[in-house]
Amino acid sequence: SLLVPSVVEMAKEPSTSIPSRYLRSDIEKAAVPDGDKALQIPVIDMQKLVSGGPNNSEIEKLDFACKEWGFFQLVNHGVDSILLENLKAEIAKFFKLPMEEKKKWWQTPGKAEGFGQAFVVSEDQKLDWGDLFYMLAYPLRLRNPSLIPSLPSPLSETMERYTSDLNSLSKAMQEKIAEALHMKIEEMKELVGEGRQTIRVNCYPPCDMSDQVMGITPHSDATLITVLLQLNDVDGLEIRKDGKWVRVHPQPDAFIVNVGDMLEIISNGRYRSIEHRGTVHPEKERLSFATFFGLRYDGELGPAPSLVSEQSPAKFMKVKVQEFYKGLFSRGLQGKAYIDTFK
Ligand code: SIN
Ligand code: FE2
Repeated sequence: SLLVPSVVEMAKEPSTSIPSRYLRSDIEKAAVPDGDKALQIPVIDMQKLVSGGPNNSEIEKLDFACKEWGFFQLVNHGVDSILLENLKAEIAKFFKLPMEEKKKWWQTPGKAEGFGQAFVVSEDQKLDWGDLFYMLAYPLRLRNPSLIPSLPSPLSETMERYTSDLNSLSKAMQEKIAEALHMKIEEMKELVGEGRQTIRVNCYPPCDMSDQVMGITPHSDATLITVLLQLNDVDGLEIRKDGKWVRVHPQPDAFIVNVGDMLEIISNGRYRSIEHRGTVHPEKERLSFATFFGLRYDGELGPAPSLVSEQSPAKFMKVKVQEFYKGLFSRGLQGKAYIDTFK
């Protein structure tokens, strides 16, 4: 990534001074008017997913959600609500630290970890209205051992526990998704391997020209699944549903789970990775925490063999996972265009 200034710092200045790189005439803003209840993402109950026996109707709901929406809310997920409350409070404080302190964790040239932005590939591209904190959490042997321990206490301990709990949750979800796809759990485990978990914590400061900036550019996630926790009560995530932008209103402490490109490919197109974006509020800061769960770095990505047949030929080419990630990071975010290059 190329280095960019802190938007949290910039937002403290009057808006007349917003650099043109943040002003998005390139993006259509209108969303579906709020309150259209029919247009809300499905809600899936983790407890029902794991406790049901054969013919578990929650598995069918999961299949429908991944197929028709590519997004759902996950409730009763078992992650401790006190942990979530602590995480919310401590992340808010973390982004409020003075710049002098935050510098310690700022991205350095060519490195993605730390505070900064992602997918900055050219000096003249448009930029997102937000700062992020990014890091690789799993596998442990690839984790930067000094990053989490260097965070202020108790965020350090909270982060350790949250990333670990989300690792278990992602693995459990991966099994339930295999079930929904009528794949053998073993086949899915083989394809994913040890997996790769990264996190992206987002702080989108308010902007009184909020209709002219974007918190996060429209994109689909490269992952198998993404598990997002909104950290405060400011909504802003929008997903593209039948050509319209639909605002997501998460229930308190529900996770928003979405299908990523890797799952679209593994499912041979049955599940769809949906384009989404983050908008900015005119007066309030918005905070979110995305956990990305993808395939092991040294594996191969392609449709699951058991889902390919004469009647249902492979819709995607096989590609080395490493190549897939490399291509992604060199292109920057561009809607859903990336996955088409593997068709
Ligand atoms: C993301 O798409 O990674 C972030 C979305 C959000 O902040 O709600
Ligand atoms: Fe995303």
